[in-house]
Amino acid sequence: MKKALITGVTGQDGSYLSEFLLEKGYDVHGTIRRSSVDFRERIAHLEGRERFHLHYADLSDSMSLVKVVSEVKPDEIYNLAAQSHVQVSFDVPEFTADVDATGVLRVLEAVRVCGLEKSCRVYQASTSELYGKVEEVPQSETTPFHPYSPYAVAKQYGFWITKEYREAYGMFCCSGILFNHESERRGETFVTRKITLAAARIAQGKQDKLYLGNLSSLRDWGYAKDYVECMWLILQHDKPEDFVIATGVQHSVREFCQLAFHYAGIELEFQGEGLEEKGIDKATGKVLVEVSEDFYRPTDVVNLWGDPSKAKKELGWNPTKTSFDELVRLMVDSDMKKVAVERAEEHIGMNLEEYLEKGVVK
Ligand code: NAP
Ligand code: GDD
Repeated sequence: MKKALITGVTGQDGSYLSEFLLEKGYDVHGTIRRSSVDFRERIAHLEGRERFHLHYADLSDSMSLVKVVSEVKPDEIYNLAAQSHVQVSFDVPEFTADVDATGVLRVLEAVRVCGLEKSCRVYQASTSELYGKVEEVPQSETTPFHPYSPYAVAKQYGFWITKEYREAYGMFCCSGILFNHESERRGETFVTRKITLAAARIAQGKQDKLYLGNLSSLRDWGYAKDYVECMWLILQHDKPEDFVIATGVQHSVREFCQLAFHYAGIELEFQGEGLEEKGIDKATGKVLVEVSEDFYRPTDVVNLWGDPSKAKKELGWNPTKTSFDELVRLMVDSDMKKVAVERAEEHIGMNLEEYLEKGVVK
């Protein structure tokens, strides 16, 4: 039985990867951080399973990493832990550098200190943010990097130190350069989830308006559940290499928003430009989406579009298993249900079925 260690197991990707590896028969070990509130919603359904284990460790604490690596002696490490929010990285740049840059070094050193450099394969969660102020579209493994946020600069160190350890010590350590991937489990402050949750709340009368930043920003959005398979495939490859993982299809924040509201039963029309742009409900004329400077970034990455040809050819991965439309629909469906449950709970004595029957949910 193979043993995998996942840092960042409580995150979106960590939860899907755990499910995927358990399904493959792995013994799965995940690292969690001590917190004053117990926030393990994404992995609650896995706790107590026979081959699922949790350990305390923090990427800013090398001792904790050495301890967990020496105890588990994993065959594979998936280093997913990070301060993963780009906008937040402008507010906490030093913490972001410590976790997202030096943290990667700590993981790699823990493997060496434990004498596992010849047996343990390491996956590093790298990012399309490295292309930043893009120098080429679409972006592939040969596109030059131009990181454009404290997050991206930190992740660039993570990418290069992983490559360095591969070349200097012959370690099987690779980076997956993953483009944005979303899901029903996406954090609520990333733009896609912020939109699907707001669309569901507005459709059910729980919110009046949604405020967003740059509506013209372009992203290559895929489904997180499809992407974790690639992390595994990268470590099963016959040689350690870095791969771009993307769908090869690009959409704007505005398009995502329009489609999400459509699945929530509202047809939106955008009018105006820049800070004056508004998303208007065609049926009622009500303004439902407005632009706020609060969500603009000091430097914003606006044109991400990946070329997944290498992953397709060498890993046999299908980048369009879940289409953009399907992704938006499943996120909206999930949030419509979540909001309906919250509303049903507010109405004492009414269960979800009764509530749905009353036609409150469009
Ligand atoms: P996420 O949902 O934000 O999860 C991040 C995980 O890292 C959480 O489990 C978090 O723990 C943990 N973490 C944060 N700081 C830590 C620390 N100091 N020590 C230990 N653990 C820490 O992110 P995600 O979307 O799953 O992304 C996973 C990885 O892929 C990240 O490295 C991200 O930068 C990278 N990535 C993501 C995307 C994407 O589109 N999702 C694209 C490219 C790359 P808590 O629950 O305790 O906060
Ligand atoms: N979060 C957010 N909130 N973003 C907004 C908003 C808003 O209200 N309005 C517009 N945007 C724009 C951002 O300016 C950005 O250009 C785009 O929407 C996507 O923002 P996020 O969803 O926050 O994701 P990200 O692309 O910055 O970062 C995510 O993807 C990276 C891969 O490219 C994160 O998951 C990173 O960890 C990951 O590396």
